[in-house]
Amino acid sequence: MEELKQLLKKLVEANGPSGHEETVRNIIKEELTNYVDEIKVDNLGNLICTKKGAKDTPKAMILAHTDEIGMLVRYIEKEGFIRFSYLGGFFDQMVLGQRVLIHTEKGDIKGVIGSVPPHLLPEEERKKPINRDKMFIDIGATSREQAEEWGVKIGNPITWLGQLEELGSNMVTGKAFDDRAGCAVMVQALKEVNAQCTVIGVASVMEEVGLRGAQTSSFTINPDLAIAIDVSATGDHPGVEERQIPVKIGKGPGITIADGRRESLGGGLISHPKVLKLLTETAQKNNIPYQLEIFEGGTTDATAAATSRGGVPSATISIPTRYIHSPIEVLSLEDLSNAVKLLKLSLENAHKYF
Ligand code: CO
Ligand code: ZN
Repeated sequence: MEELKQLLKKLVEANGPSGHEETVRNIIKEELTNYVDEIKVDNLGNLICTKKGAKDTPKAMILAHTDEIGMLVRYIEKEGFIRFSYLGGFFDQMVLGQRVLIHTEKGDIKGVIGSVPPHLLPEEERKKPINRDKMFIDIGATSREQAEEWGVKIGNPITWLGQLEELGSNMVTGKAFDDRAGCAVMVQALKEVNAQCTVIGVASVMEEVGLRGAQTSSFTINPDLAIAIDVSATGDHPGVEERQIPVKIGKGPGITIADGRRESLGGGLISHPKVLKLLTETAQKNNIPYQLEIFEGGTTDATAAATSRGGVPSATISIPTRYIHSPIEVLSLEDLSNAVKLLKLSLENAHKYF
C-alpha cells in the first residue's frame, strides 16, 4: 500500500489542468517505460501505453484522465489582482479562501483567492454565497505591470496548491484525486498485469471539459472493450442520504451500472452487460469487495469510448471519493488497492469473455 500511496502522492502533487497535462503525462510515461511494449503520445496529448498479448486475442483499453479541474488567467486588474475562468466544473464555495499556483513561463507563482470580508458586506449580502465574479487572485503584485513582469499573462493555467495528507483509517486527502487516483490504479495495474489479451492504457487528456481525449484515443485504438477508472461521489457523510448514493468509502471500488445527468441519466454511460459480468464475476471469485452504483450527476471517459466507431462495450470502475471537485478530496487507500486488484484480474480474465 505504501508504494501505491507514494505513486498517488507523486501524481496529485503534479499540476495539470485540462490542456496543460504534460507534467502528469511525463510521470506516467516514466513509471511505465520498463513495463510496457510500446508508448506513444497522440496529437491531442493522450499517452497510449501498450502491453501486447497473445495473437488473436481482444484489445482491452483502460482510460484514466490526466487533467484536473483548474482555472485560466482571464484578466489582470490594473492594481495587480487576477480574474479567472473555470476550466471544468467548480463549486464557487470550494474556491473562496483557497491557495493557488499560477503557472507562468517564468515559473510558478503563489496566490490566494480573496473577496470582500464579511465585516464590510451589507447584512443581506453576508447571508448569500459569494460567486466567482466577486473573487480574485492576490499574488502580492501592486500593479498589472508588476504581475506581467513576474510572468503572469492571459491564459496561464491555475491549479490548487495542496499536498497529499494522511487522515485516519487509511484515508488520504488532497487535490486532483479526480483523476490521478484513476491514473495511479491504471499505472499500478499495468505494471502487475500478465494478460492473454492486449492491454492498452490511455492516460487521457481533457476529460473535465468534455471527454475529449477519450473520444480521439478510442477512435484510434478501436478496442474490443473499454474500462474507465475514475472517482465518484459517496453517500457516507453529513448532508447526503444513503438512499441517494449508498456507496461508502472503504467498502471497495465501485462498479458503475449507469451514470449521467441527474434528472435522466442522459449524456452518460449505460455499462455493457458483458463488461459488467467480467468485473463482477472477477470480484466475486477473488473476494474483492465492490459496490454497485448508479451515479446521478456526472460521467466518465467510458461514455466517449462506448459510442466510438461501431460502439465499444464499456464500463467504469470508480474510486469512492468524498468532496469531489475540491482541493480536499478524500479517499481510502484500501479502496485504491482493491481497485488495482480488480482491474488487473479483470484484464487477465478478459479473453474468456470477449
Ligand atoms: Co471530474
Ligand atoms: Zn474524473
